[in-house]
Order: sequence, then C-alpha cells, then structure tokens
Amino acid sequence: MKRVDDFRLRFGNEEYVPIMIGGMGVDISTSELALEAARLGGIGHISDAMVEDVSDRKFDTSFVKDKTKLYKHNINNMDKSMVQFDLERLAQAQRLHLGRTMEQKKGPGLIFVNCMEKLTMNGPRETLRTRLNAALDAGIDGITLSAGLHFGSFALMADHPRFREAKLGIIVSSVRALQIFLRKNAKLNRLPDYVIVEGPLAGGHLGFGLEDWKDYDLMTITQELLAYFKEEQLDIPLIAAGGIFTGSDAVKFLEAGAAGVQVATRFTVTKECGLPDKVKQEYFKASEDDIIVNGVSPTGYPMRMLKNTPAIGAGIRPGCESYGYLLDATGNCAYINSYNREVLAHPDSKNISVMDKTCLCTHMRNFNCWTCGHYTYKLKDTSFKKPDGEYQLLSAEHVFKDYQFSTDDHIAMPEKEF
Ligand SMILES: Cc1cc2nc3c(=O)[nH]c(=O)nc-3n(C[C@H](O)[C@H](O)[C@H](O)COP(=O)(O)O)c2cc1C
Repeated sequence: MKRVDDFRLRFGNEEYVPIMIGGMGVDISTSELALEAARLGGIGHISDAMVEDVSDRKFDTSFVKDKTKLYKHNINNMDKSMVQFDLERLAQAQRLHLGRTMEQKKGPGLIFVNCMEKLTMNGPRETLRTRLNAALDAGIDGITLSAGLHFGSFALMADHPRFREAKLGIIVSSVRALQIFLRKNAKLNRLPDYVIVEGPLAGGHLGFGLEDWKDYDLMTITQELLAYFKEEQLDIPLIAAGGIFTGSDAVKFLEAGAAGVQVATRFTVTKECGLPDKVKQEYFKASEDDIIVNGVSPTGYPMRMLKNTPAIGAGIRPGCESYGYLLDATGNCAYINSYNREVLAHPDSKNISVMDKTCLCTHMRNFNCWTCGHYTYKLKDTSFKKPDGEYQLLSAEHVFKDYQFSTDDHIAMPEKEF
C-alpha cells in the first residue's frame, strides 16, 4: 500500500512533500507551524488576516492602538465609511509579519500566505493590492487567494518584479469558479501555479451554500477539476483539501491524480498552533454533534464551528474602529446591521444578544470563534487523555510525519509525555 511519501508535489523542476498546511486566520496557523512544514519539506501557510493586530502582538508595533485613537470619535456612529486603513501602515505590518517569518525559514519546503479576499477592509481593491504587493516585497514563496475571489487579483500585482517568480494559487470549490478566474485573468498570460480544491468538510468559511454543502463531496469535485484540466490541457497541480484526516485519505486523492493535499484540522491541536491551550482542549473534546455549519459570519459564507463557540449570540459593539477588516466598499458590515436591530429592539438592555451574525474581527482576534473542520470530533483519537481529563498536545512534526508515512488508515500516537 502506498503512502504520501511515495508522491511528490512538483512546481517545474522543484519537488516537495505533497502536504500543505492550510492557512488559518487569525494567526491560528502561526509562523512556527508554517516553518515546521517548510523544515520538513512540505508547504506551510501563514495568514494575513488582521495582519496589523498580528504584528502588534508579535513585534510590539501599535497599528491597532493608533487606528483606534484616530477613529475613536466614531465608535458610537454606525456609519463606518470614514474608518479607512492607512495603506502604508498596512504594507508595513504585512512586510513585518511575512518578512520575519521568511527570515527564519530553514529546510527544503516553502512558506505561502493565505490572503482572504473577503477581507474587503473598506476599500477592497486598494487594500488587497497593498497586501499582495507587500507580501511579494517580503519575499514570501507563494500567495494563496482564498474566500471571495474577485477574479481580478492577479492583475493587482502584475507590475511587481516577483509576479512571475512567486508561486500564486487560488482556492476554489467548483470547476465553474476556476473557469471564471481563468477567463478574467487570460490577458495576463499568467496561470495559477497551483489550484486548491476545497470540499465541504473544511474548516473556516465554505464555498458552498448553508443548505446544500452536504450534497457535495471532495472526491467528485476533484475529479471534475482533473477532467477539466485534461480537456483544456492545463498542467496545473491540483491540491485537494477538506476532511483529509489520515495519510491513507491523502493517498486516495494522490492516486486519483491530485498533486498534493492541504490539511489543517489535525494541526489545530499541535503546540505550534496559535489557538490558546484551553481552546485546543475544546477541539479535542468535541463530539460530532458539537460541530455545526451556520451563517453567523458577516462575509455571507457559511462557516463551520464548535456549537459552544463564545462568538455565537455575543452582542458586542462592532469593533470597526480598531479592526474593520470586513467593512465592504461602502463601509458596511452585516454585523453592524444586526447589532443595530437588536439595540433598537432592546433600548433599555445593557447586554444584548445578536444571534444571526457575529463580530468576526473581534471574536477571531480573541480566539472566541472556534472554527474547525468537520472531523474535529476525531481529534480525540489522535492523542492520549491525561489523568486530569485534558489531552496531550501534539507536535506539528508528529502530525506532519503521520500524514507523510502512515498506511492502512493508521494514526500514529505521540510519545506519552505523562
Ligand atoms: C481553525 C481553522 C481556520 C481556518 N481558517 C482559514 C482561513 O482563514 N482561510 C482559508 O482560506 N482557509 C481557512 N481554513 C481552511 C484550511 O486552510 C483548510 O483548507 C481546510 O480546513 C482543510 O481541511 P481539514 O481541516 O479537514 O484538514 C481554516 C481551517 C481551520 C480548521
């Protein structure tokens, strides 16, 4: 029986272990996690979601504090159109987070950044242009465009000297989405270097409907994309993602013709993952019934999360003056509307609850939105439960190598640390 290590992901003449660790914002897929993937010969992602906040926490900058100070007078105003990102500061934060990560890279693998296009930041085009170009300035090995493909993104960095050197990829959930992307980018004469196909069992936001995600499955979509590549004679590595829990699951996709797999959930309970330890224990303990897909994300995409996630129902004041990553081109966010509705309906109440949407920036930043993959309920089978009821955290190396070398659906247990 084959194992993942029998395959290689190829970009031109370069070869990698065909395992990508997916981007998990906000700093859930830390630099440390991505660096481990690169050291082991695979590909790790960091994420640039809320990069100014990430930079403040890691490098003692004061981007968020300064922005809050600048717009403090607007906090009680529900019109957020004036709350703009300073593009130069955004670029600085991006270069710091990504550049410092790249400086530490060791080993034969690569480090990519996941750029969620749904972070429209009250100026979708200019903020994305800034993020993408600053990422290339920082020497990042590759950029993965995710959630919210607005199809013109490659053009935003077409003048950058590294535009044809860095690896550029996109995440899609259907052939149709890829076709539109390719059509819109045809003029640039620059194909994506890889395409990630993400199925409905992934963590984070889903590229399917709230009601119909169950009707799709990753293997079918993967095969549809492979057939499309063949028909169009496109030689683009296809990476399958979403619900690949064991090395043997991965081998099935590699044997079907995928060039690699992107995985994330198994790494949420590693020491290198950015979630607080107490949240990692929630992931370990979750049962199948605890994992839901709902519509509380203001992006309009369904999102998978633990049922007991503190972000659900929390009625906090919108945090746009400090963050504002989900403000659309007109300075609006679906959470602001829901929050206002509840404030109007309960004028005398101090603690309101907003059930239909959540302030995703604040909650992701505080690790209070416990987004997770479908198979999170299996994590408990990947480690030991200690006498105090807590689970032993894993190392990223252990999980990576388990994917790389395991056969027969076997999951390697870690060395016992208690
Ligand atoms: C906690 C968590 C956060 C995630 N955040 C993002 C994100 O910010 N952007 C993104 O494109 N994908 C995100 N994802 C999706 C992963 O990058 C990956 O494609 C997917 O989860 C792989 O499936 P698996 O978790 O079943 O292995 C997230 C996944 C998890 C588990």
